[in-house]
Amino acid sequence: MTNIKNNDLLLDTISSTENFPINFNELEQAAKQKLAAGPFGYIRSSAGGEETYRKNTESFAKYSIVPRFLTDVSVLNTEVTIFGRTYPHPLFIAPVGVNKIAHVDGEIAVAKAAAKYEFPYIQSTVSSYAIEEIAAVTEGSSKWYQLYWSQNKEISFSMVKRAEEAGYEAIVLTVDTVMLGWREEDIRNQFSPLKRGFAKGNYASDPVFMASLPDYDEDTIINSIIENIYHPSLNWDNIAELKERTSLPILIKGILHPDDAKLAFEKGIDGIIVSNHGGRQLDGVIASIDALPTIVDAVAGRIPVLFDSGIRRGSDAVKALALGATAVCIGRPFLWGLASGGQAGVERVLENFLQETKVSISLSGVRNLNELHKLKIVKS
Ligand SMILES: Cc1cc2nc3c(=O)[nH]c(=O)nc-3n(C[C@H](O)[C@H](O)[C@H](O)COP(=O)(O)O)c2cc1C
Repeated sequence: MTNIKNNDLLLDTISSTENFPINFNELEQAAKQKLAAGPFGYIRSSAGGEETYRKNTESFAKYSIVPRFLTDVSVLNTEVTIFGRTYPHPLFIAPVGVNKIAHVDGEIAVAKAAAKYEFPYIQSTVSSYAIEEIAAVTEGSSKWYQLYWSQNKEISFSMVKRAEEAGYEAIVLTVDTVMLGWREEDIRNQFSPLKRGFAKGNYASDPVFMASLPDYDEDTIINSIIENIYHPSLNWDNIAELKERTSLPILIKGILHPDDAKLAFEKGIDGIIVSNHGGRQLDGVIASIDALPTIVDAVAGRIPVLFDSGIRRGSDAVKALALGATAVCIGRPFLWGLASGGQAGVERVLENFLQETKVSISLSGVRNLNELHKLKIVKS
């Protein structure tokens, strides 16, 4: 166990901070200066009228922490154990594809920054870099692989096998993206990272995918990725097939209904990520944080329940953990760091995030995650 002495993290940070945007809005503005309208809009925007995108963050304000005092918070332990591995803190990198649209170093920069700050890295199927390329630069750090099911399911199984061989420790099957959400900003900007070849990393390096092509033209590769990634027939039978093809734990990402959470458990799924994809899929769906408590109840501690969508700062992480999340995943904040400053930019975002989370846990009056899960939260 790594009980750490709880320094005054704010003052530590001020003595070491150079000029870099701190909060989410400042990060977004800095990234806007760096990126063309297409990539910026792709990352920032969401589906439809962006109702869910707004709700994801606004809903956090409905939940208030009721802290305890006089509890001696001089030693803090933020460790969490998931699938037998103990992580120093409950903060993960959400799977986000096509990172090269934000910075030429793309997922390589993010995965290296994640390794440095010990945020487990969930790599997307539609990464700009391949599984093996990420593994080569992050040896020993914890990585999970996010799978988008393929029309040709042998491609899915091949990617899972590659992830397993490269030392990835879990498979995250995203189930809310059987087709792309209706994203008006991308239509307005006429920008599709898929069509521009930013999602090739794992496909162009996959022997099963490449063997399925009539030729290796750039257009053939891109069109086949687009064909394969559309998978509206995904169903629970596919889950059973996937389970047969890997010995890694499988999580389902995108669960919002408690009955789906119960079904996932009954079907032998090892974990859940409560998520609405940052509002990028179906507009009008429930804010992720509002879905969390009912899912935590339905799962009743039998499998881990991770959380994303709307996490912008450490106190958001504290609320999600207090509402029962086992760990939380960070999405857009690290992308803005990547756009602003490459690997160093991601590092700065993760460092600040981690420090703010620790300060927020301690100021809530708790000393570890068990106590944090029992922290009183009131909803207005
Ligand atoms: C630009 C972008 C690309 C994404 N790509 C993926 C992906 O490839 N796979 C996936 O499961 N989720 C993807 N997501 C969703 C994230 O994993 C996560 O659910 C979302 O970012 C959470 O919302 P937030 O960033 O607003 O907190 C993507 C999100 C963004 C912003």
